[in-house]
Amino acid sequence: MKTALDLIRDEILSLTPYIPGKHIKAVEAELGITNIIKMASNENPMGPSPKAVEAATEAVRECNTYPDSHCSYLREALAKHLQVREQNLVFGNGAHEMIFLLTSTFLKPGEEAVIPLPSFGEYVAAVRLAGGIVKPIALQDLTIDLESCLDAITENTKLVFICNPNNPTGKLIEAEKINAFMERVPGHVLVIYDEAYGEYIDDPTYPNGIDWVKQGKNVIVLRTFSKVYSLAGLRVGYAVANDALADYMGRVRLVFNVNAIAQAAAVAALGDKEYFNMSIENNRQGKEYLYKALSELEIGYIPTQANFLLINILGDSNQIFQELMKLGVIVRPGSVFGLNNYLRVTIGTPEQNIRFIQALCQVMGGVAD
Ligand SMILES: Cc1ncc(COP(=O)(O)O)c(C=O)c1O
Repeated sequence: MKTALDLIRDEILSLTPYIPGKHIKAVEAELGITNIIKMASNENPMGPSPKAVEAATEAVRECNTYPDSHCSYLREALAKHLQVREQNLVFGNGAHEMIFLLTSTFLKPGEEAVIPLPSFGEYVAAVRLAGGIVKPIALQDLTIDLESCLDAITENTKLVFICNPNNPTGKLIEAEKINAFMERVPGHVLVIYDEAYGEYIDDPTYPNGIDWVKQGKNVIVLRTFSKVYSLAGLRVGYAVANDALADYMGRVRLVFNVNAIAQAAAVAALGDKEYFNMSIENNRQGKEYLYKALSELEIGYIPTQANFLLINILGDSNQIFQELMKLGVIVRPGSVFGLNNYLRVTIGTPEQNIRFIQALCQVMGGVAD
């Protein structure tokens, strides 16, 4: 006898639900505690730029009209900022949507996508949804193994996803290795560089992914306004692609996929250099503090090029995660990524970082200054 599940496509039945970082309100309700801090979803702890808030507030007044489908003002400002042409940009409801837009546009059922794992989970979901085949490549020493990625490429491979710096490790592929990889990727493969954390990179040797797009390589770069620009709740992400690829991706997206408030806020956030610099500086100082505090506690960590830190707690990350949550500190257990001995912690404000270290000490039986 047929059941309701028979109505669902096979590709959908194989999907596992996305587990987002716990929301503060949910934890408040669950544990009956207040004064909770969230260091779980790699958001910007500084709050949005006041200029973005002002622009968003102004835009709300006109929300009776449809948004500008072309994101004209944002397109103009961002093209200038990135020094690309306006037609190289495709906007979406976060980089999240761009990942699904990429697979819908480029991946035929049965084609392969090479994905180093663990990484951002939505690559796998998007490939499966499109009926594609995931070729997982395990990280080596928590580093993306580009040699194995190349070895895994076949005639049937369409996409390679490279998250750089990688989420959840925060590691960046060295310039020499990534340049050599780009030399050797076959022409029928499209490389997706997810640079959601690209603005935080402080390694001066890192090659900007957008340069490959400009050079006409088969590369699409993904970026977002959710991280350093602090607009995760408004949902704006974008792809940088060559004219033809961008054009066709633009035909697949929903017509009004970026709302008017988000567009206005993104333009203002992009223009607020002072806020941007402050966010980068907060992250740099937070990194320094956490490195020092963890070293003093003899707790291992992976040096990061992003706004989060992977910490080696040498124990059950789920248990430590639960204990930290009872103390009002939400982080991400590594078990979500198959890294059971690790916690991923978003770098917070100075106060949040101190509170995290104190809570970690408490649950791991150490003493914090
Ligand atoms: C590597 C990576 N790509 C994409 C995204 C999605 O970002 P957005 O908020 O723009 O959808 C995230 C979010 O955490 C991420 O870590």
